[in-house]
Amino acid sequence: MFQILGTGSSLPKLKVTNDDLAKKMDTSDEWIVSKTGIKSRNILSDETITDLAVEASIKAIKDAKVDVSEIDLIVSATLVGDTITPSMSCLIAEKLGVSCPAFDINAACSGFVYALDVVAGYFARKKVKKVLVLGAERLSHHIDWSDRATCVLFGDGAGAVVLGEGDNLRSIRLTTQPGKANLYEDFRGGDSPFSTREFPVQHIKMNGQEVYKFAVNAIVNDIKFVLDDAKITQEKVSHFLLHQANIRIIDAAIHSLKIPKEKFHNTIDHTGNLSAASIPVLLDEINKAGKLKRGDLIAICAFGAGLTTGAMLMEW
Ligand code: ACO
Repeated sequence: MFQILGTGSSLPKLKVTNDDLAKKMDTSDEWIVSKTGIKSRNILSDETITDLAVEASIKAIKDAKVDVSEIDLIVSATLVGDTITPSMSCLIAEKLGVSCPAFDINAACSGFVYALDVVAGYFARKKVKKVLVLGAERLSHHIDWSDRATCVLFGDGAGAVVLGEGDNLRSIRLTTQPGKANLYEDFRGGDSPFSTREFPVQHIKMNGQEVYKFAVNAIVNDIKFVLDDAKITQEKVSHFLLHQANIRIIDAAIHSLKIPKEKFHNTIDHTGNLSAASIPVLLDEINKAGKLKRGDLIAICAFGAGLTTGAMLMEW
């Protein structure tokens, strides 16, 4: 089906530390680090998420050593881009000067894995040879900045990969379980003169402790599932990339899976939770740091609102 030819990422220029947050709300570096592992995150100021997505795309295309004109399809995983319509992928296509099909998908924090699964179908049908896949989010515009329990958790960013034909995807599993009440963001919508409903405020709402339990179970079950499905033992896997929501979730999963901690890579300390951008930004960081060798097996697991999960095993 596919292989990853190149990666790229982009974070906003404004770095916001926990101490910066503590100047604006009743919180502390000590609370945030001990509860989440986050020390800083980057937040959009005068840039747009489209700017970041385009920069990440250009870097991934360069890393893949392909020409932009070769891109046959653009799929972005995002809650929403700068415009509800056109999609973020269409805005990226316009900036890149290409006219291939382009659309977005929303599976919350699991979105990047969902996007790869969708794109695997295009490769299987031999409709494409080179595909640009992104995860890009502007969480700073979705959170309630007066809610200290959620706003300290998130950051903004974009990650991209260029895929080419190959046989490197070993297993992939997507799930959705009921759980709207535990993690959601209402859509305020426009003003209709016919509506008699009261529309809620549009902010991410979360039951942190329920999401925590769901996330640890999801990682443990889904990592085991993709390993069994591919008939691979965990010793053969060189790298584990988990959705970067909270270091305590990651540590609890590592403890339960009994896998050496050195095999897990993290960005949580300097990015916070980037939702669908989490996995591609992490992948780009370890790729650019030279940590990936051809043939390495990589297990990925993401989880998010829905409640959705997406896990996969692939060869680098
Ligand atoms: N600074 C200081 N104190 C705080 C803050 C803050 N930023 N936020 C909450 N508190 C206080 C609370 O008010 C509470 O005080 P109280 O005991 O006087 O009532 C106390 O800290 C404990 O609050 P809890 O909510 O019980 O803290 P908990 O241990 O559950 O940690 C957290 C909260 C970090 C959100 C945790 O539940 C968690 O990690 N959940 C996982 C969810 C997650 O990571 N979601 C990410 C987004 S979803 C996704 O990506 C899928």
